[in-house]
Amino acid sequence: MTETRDGVATLWVGTSWKMNKSLDEARRYARELDHYLRRTKLAGVQPFIIPSFTAVSATREALGQDTPVLLGVQNAHWDDHGAWTGEVSVAQAKDAGAQLVEIGHSERREHFGETVATTRLKVAAALAHGLVPLLCIGESDEVRRAGDSSRFILDQAAGALDGLTPEQMKRVLIAYEPVWAIGDKGRPATAEEMRAPFAELGREYLGRIGGLLYGGSVNVDNAADLLGIAEVTGLFIGRAAWELRGYLQLLELAASHPKLAG
Ligand code: PGA
Repeated sequence: MTETRDGVATLWVGTSWKMNKSLDEARRYARELDHYLRRTKLAGVQPFIIPSFTAVSATREALGQDTPVLLGVQNAHWDDHGAWTGEVSVAQAKDAGAQLVEIGHSERREHFGETVATTRLKVAAALAHGLVPLLCIGESDEVRRAGDSSRFILDQAAGALDGLTPEQMKRVLIAYEPVWAIGDKGRPATAEEMRAPFAELGREYLGRIGGLLYGGSVNVDNAADLLGIAEVTGLFIGRAAWELRGYLQLLELAASHPKLAG
């Protein structure tokens, strides 16, 4: 899973379904995805899907245990159990079949009080239970316009990953998702705009972590360019992968990207 600037061994390509999909819809998506990936081996691509909590067990059952797809949750509490009404712990997420924990998505930072301090606790909890932490970082449009993007995202990452050993760092994934590029009100970032912040992130993290992903309005039209950024080793996708067809197109696109050949 180590990367060099000349080529990567693994491209991470995953989707969070956010607050979408019934149990039936989740099962159907997972079953068809798993069947597709058994028929069509996509060498070098690591797929992951992140349902709502209600659908984690059902999705695990639909995928099966020996599927190539990693299963995640969109958030998890750092404590194993206790009086935390409305929360789900990393231990419970693991019990339900999750292998990965998304941490610090901008929607959680903006609406649910996620802070650098809580992302740090959650990263540590995920690692303690043997799950992969997928740390999301990203600056608002205001920060971008002030010219502070790189400093802001480096601070978010450093705060969440503070104190980890080199071995623990190797399991961490970082998704850089500029807040202004996320969702249907977002403006897709261009690969040109992303080169400088990814160069900064790469200087700090390339070769030390499991993967450095781009997220925010990824689609079939911009995915190849975004993967073409030297330091990018994966894509984190929302809307464009909520229909299985869209996700499969992006998985195929990644599997045939020249970057993997290097
Ligand atoms: P989007 O979501 O692809 O729909 O912009 C990305 C994300 O929030 O991770």
